[in-house]
Amino acid sequence: MNVKLLEKSEDCSLYEQVAERIEMLIAEGTLQPGDRLPSVRKLHKQLCVSISTVLEAYRLLEDRGMIRARPQSGYYVKETPATAPDEPSLSNPPWQVCPVDTSLAFRVQKMMRDREIVKLGAAVPSPELFPLATLNRLMGQVARAQPEVVHSYDAPPGCEALRHQVAKRLMDAGCSVTPEAIVTTNGTTEAMYLSLQAVTQPGDTIAIESPTYYGLMDILETLRLKALELPTHPREGISLNHLETALSQGKVTACALVSNFSNPLGSCMSDEKKKQLVELLNRYNVPLVEDDVYGELYFSGSRPKAIKAFDTEGRVLYCASISKTLSPGLRVGWSIPGRYQGKVEQLKMVTNITTAIAPQLTVAAFLANGGYDRHLRRLRQAYQSQMARLTQAICEEFPPETRVTRPCGGHVLWLELPKEFDSMVLYQEALQHKISIAPGTIFSPSGGYQNCLRLHGGLPWSDTIAEAMKILGMLSKKQLARKILAK
Ligand SMILES: Cc1ncc(COP(=O)(O)O)c(C=O)c1O
Repeated sequence: MNVKLLEKSEDCSLYEQVAERIEMLIAEGTLQPGDRLPSVRKLHKQLCVSISTVLEAYRLLEDRGMIRARPQSGYYVKETPATAPDEPSLSNPPWQVCPVDTSLAFRVQKMMRDREIVKLGAAVPSPELFPLATLNRLMGQVARAQPEVVHSYDAPPGCEALRHQVAKRLMDAGCSVTPEAIVTTNGTTEAMYLSLQAVTQPGDTIAIESPTYYGLMDILETLRLKALELPTHPREGISLNHLETALSQGKVTACALVSNFSNPLGSCMSDEKKKQLVELLNRYNVPLVEDDVYGELYFSGSRPKAIKAFDTEGRVLYCASISKTLSPGLRVGWSIPGRYQGKVEQLKMVTNITTAIAPQLTVAAFLANGGYDRHLRRLRQAYQSQMARLTQAICEEFPPETRVTRPCGGHVLWLELPKEFDSMVLYQEALQHKISIAPGTIFSPSGGYQNCLRLHGGLPWSDTIAEAMKILGMLSKKQLARKILAK
């Protein structure tokens, strides 16, 4: 056990910090399933915290399903199921250019935001995972220190202090860019919107992953763009062979994808593949809009590189934000548009002139000295253990034929059930129980993936979620049984 003393912190109590250290030891494999944890007394002495703090930490880990108490014996790391579920294979969407209609996705998304509902559908991280107290304090400081600045107009490329911090952080993603190359935006969504608008005309076709993030489909529809869905592997991402065929047939004007821990599949391309993708696009002179909103949420090793890191000709328009790591509500994001920067800045200006200054300065202050790396370490650990818990619940509750992705980062899981399963039926039935899921069809412009669904793993494990997973599993089994009987 790392016995570095724990410190009181604004955003994380002592018992949560104790729990995190143990979770880290479990995630790293130092503590294996079945191992006995240090006794409460031993840990209390080692970490110089009270016995009740250790007990509370152990209770929290029990609630999260990481450990269990054995009467008269102590606490043990929970055994994981002997067999992990199978993964879905390479997707096989129809080879056709589709108009995009997101009316269903839009309705489903609105429903997923209902506050009363257990939100296993929307990929919205739980606010309790974010350092809200520190962010709020910094927001107050920023407003007091620069009252006139925060209430003034600004112009693209946006807040200098933020661009400076983002440029520094992007070195970890293999990108060496100057603050001048960055344009700040209202989240990744606006960065993607402006980037796609900068490189296309209405009626153009965009190559996308299949299944794909429905927010991207919303953008395509609004810009009156068409989509060509390409086969995508749940670990390795979009098929470059199919992309090359589409490019050689002159079918697509641009490509848009999530490079790291994609939504919904969780795929993460290797560096080699990222490099090949850039070479391919350079060869055909086609731009790529890269969404890297999940890049910092890796579970082990180091941050995966951005595709932008391999961009030698300025053809990659990189987009990201702090929505999945700090706060979706601050709406702070950025784009690195490469050779299209002038156009993106012009579009930003006519769309909304600038992103609000107070949130940008707050995020800049947090990145400069708010303990972002420490916060990220905690967050990754929390997501990793929540995703493991969710996977375990799928194994226990869902029909045995269910296939599940095994992403190495991010916080979404994609489930594939037998062909006769209808996730829209599950969606409707689950709503009666006040549970949301994201049905597979909203991730495809051609309406595929009826037998698939996406679950959100960003919520801290609780009895409510355990109960919701039981209900979802029961509804899925009943639906399949009905279908089999009806045959
Ligand atoms: C892949 C992907 N891109 C973008 C977003 C939205 O990002 P932002 O809040 O920064 O606009 C999401 C949110 O779920 C997402 O999953």
